[in-house]
Amino acid sequence: MATAAFARVCESPGCNASAKLQCPTCMKLGIQGSYFCSQDCFKGNWRSHKILHKIAKGEGVDGSGENKDYDPWPNYRFTGKLRPYPQSPKRVVPAHIPRPDYATHPTGLPLSEQQVKQVAQIKTLNDEEIEGMRVACKLGREVLDEAAKIIDVGVTTDEIDRIVHEACIERECYPSPLNYYEFPKSCCTSVNEVICHGIPDQRPLENGDICNIDVTVYHRSFHGDLNETFLVGEVSDTAKKLTQVTWECLDRAIKIVKPGEKYREIGHVIQKHAQANGFSVVRSYCGHGIHQLFHTAPSIPHYAKNKVVGVMKPGHCFTIEPMISQGSWRDEMWPDKWTAVTIDGLLSAQFEHTLLVTDTGVEVLTARSADGGRPYFMDN
Ligand code: MF3
Ligand code: CO
Ligand code: CO
Repeated sequence: MATAAFARVCESPGCNASAKLQCPTCMKLGIQGSYFCSQDCFKGNWRSHKILHKIAKGEGVDGSGENKDYDPWPNYRFTGKLRPYPQSPKRVVPAHIPRPDYATHPTGLPLSEQQVKQVAQIKTLNDEEIEGMRVACKLGREVLDEAAKIIDVGVTTDEIDRIVHEACIERECYPSPLNYYEFPKSCCTSVNEVICHGIPDQRPLENGDICNIDVTVYHRSFHGDLNETFLVGEVSDTAKKLTQVTWECLDRAIKIVKPGEKYREIGHVIQKHAQANGFSVVRSYCGHGIHQLFHTAPSIPHYAKNKVVGVMKPGHCFTIEPMISQGSWRDEMWPDKWTAVTIDGLLSAQFEHTLLVTDTGVEVLTARSADGGRPYFMDN
């Protein structure tokens, strides 16, 4: 163990001690990070840590494409078949790209979001702010389009994250997820039973997977947020139907957006359609106001009989992002404190757009300009 130049936090899960010891093999291989507080933490994590060395040497996760060595939470009972794989070192955004407050906060806290109360008024954007949102959302769409080009069987979600990260930088965008409440990557990739907030890692996508890619970019003070679920290779009829119905839920919800409409109606439209097709609506994660803040008022449930107050007005910007599950609507979280999975291990799909309420209806700011707004899964 060598001594590093900067004080860092120990990599050992659950240990937040400051760490000055850097793994010598990582140093040799040019892997950033890998700081530990003590020899004990280093040795205690060796089994999972050494996978990073194999990956850096191009040996794959265990040399055979399997994941036998990596078991970060031996006592966690997984709900389905998906398992976490090692993550690549943290990616860096060049200093010239402006970033939100949480990007540089030591624990990723978005202080500007926390300052405005939860019950805060919904902001009405002026013309200049609306134009700022249009630009950010268009760039977000371009970034998701780049990811769509490369997603395939055998591609790791970490590789998707790399493409998203670089596409952001090329467009003078900061990838909004990076360091948001310490989220470690530049986008979310949610595979199969993952509902949302999956962390990109070294797992290669498999034939038959469904994978949601959720991109948010921060450009000139505004966030643009969108996601799509992709079909990887040949997927089951159930997976296709779930993805189709989830898309229709978003589409139908967008169609009611107009001045004077109640925010609580969105959930009614979505649950009605999901339920009619035998699927369920996730309740723990909602759509949200978005502009100079990533997540702000209003919070928009996707389920029926919600008691959310508020009426749409021209100049409001918000997301609708229904998560629809094959079985139970209930979710639980992996010990990484991010990955939300279905409690029965069955599939969950999601689609998201950022919307602007106009004088006459709605503008879908993150729409795919080509193909009349058709999502990518319909091409398969
Ligand atoms: N893009 C997600 C959303 O739709 C939020 C991701 S936050 C992260 O709201 F920290 F998980 F990246
Ligand atoms: Co969102
Ligand atoms: Co999103």
